[in-house]
Amino acid sequence: MEELPSNPTHPALPAGYVIQATGIKKVYKRGREEIVALWDTNLSILPGEFIVMIGPSGSGKSTLLHLLGGIDRPTRGELRVNGVDLITANEDALTRFRRDNIGFVFQFYNLLPSLNALDNVILPLLAKGMSWKASRERGAVVLEQVGLSHRQKHTPSQLSGGEQQRVAIARAMALEPRVILADEPTGDLDRASSNSIINLMVDLKQRLGVTFIVATHNLNLLQVADRSYELTDGHLNRMSNGPAGYI
Ligand SMILES: Nc1ncnc2c1ncn2[C@@H]1O[C@H](COP(=O)(O)OP(=O)(O)O)[C@@H](O)[C@H]1O
Ligand SMILES: [Mg+2]
Repeated sequence: MEELPSNPTHPALPAGYVIQATGIKKVYKRGREEIVALWDTNLSILPGEFIVMIGPSGSGKSTLLHLLGGIDRPTRGELRVNGVDLITANEDALTRFRRDNIGFVFQFYNLLPSLNALDNVILPLLAKGMSWKASRERGAVVLEQVGLSHRQKHTPSQLSGGEQQRVAIARAMALEPRVILADEPTGDLDRASSNSIINLMVDLKQRLGVTFIVATHNLNLLQVADRSYELTDGHLNRMSNGPAGYI
């Protein structure tokens, strides 16, 4: 059997890759036109790594995150995330995969405006069938983890952009996913709020071993990355050196 790599950033986390993509390619069809959003892409990620992807608009960042998160499927290639084969999984399995394995964080937070912070965070828990009481207890824990215990009852319009993104991160973490995929998470924030969201993500990685994959224009994120990549016209290139022995 192939030997699994040990985990240099988190010795306590399980060995082996949480994400393994081999030769994945994504072609979008628009009428008769074909757009190659992602060329043959290889990527192996260990649990608890903080991965940053930069690249201009249209370079394929969101496409890659969608593939890794089971929102969309590659046109070709092999892709396993947290032990699930995303190529062969049927639609039901893919829905379960997204719910149980992945937290998503977006540029514009995507909170429900009529619900307060706690209710936004517990929605995925209730949807999974957790009781009202247990959901609220868990919701309070994750809001505490993002430093927002004092804002439970605030609705999004009563929160700053940075606070709204903290709520969105708490919601993404509610079901304890192994991986959080963040698409331009600081794209709508001023510099101070951006830095505080970056520090929060690093803190969650260090304390809880959450794996982060962040697509961004914010070059400050390169400083905190375990590994970073640049996407150019659908080609993914490694930027910095990480632990030897894997891609
Ligand atoms: N659903 C889609 N249908 C057709 N083309 C798409 C679709 N989504 C993205 N694209 C195209 O794929 C390329 C990569 O897009 P995207 O992954 O959104 O880049 P980024 O997130 O880096 O801005 C772009 O040329 C974009 O126009
Ligand atoms: Mg994008």
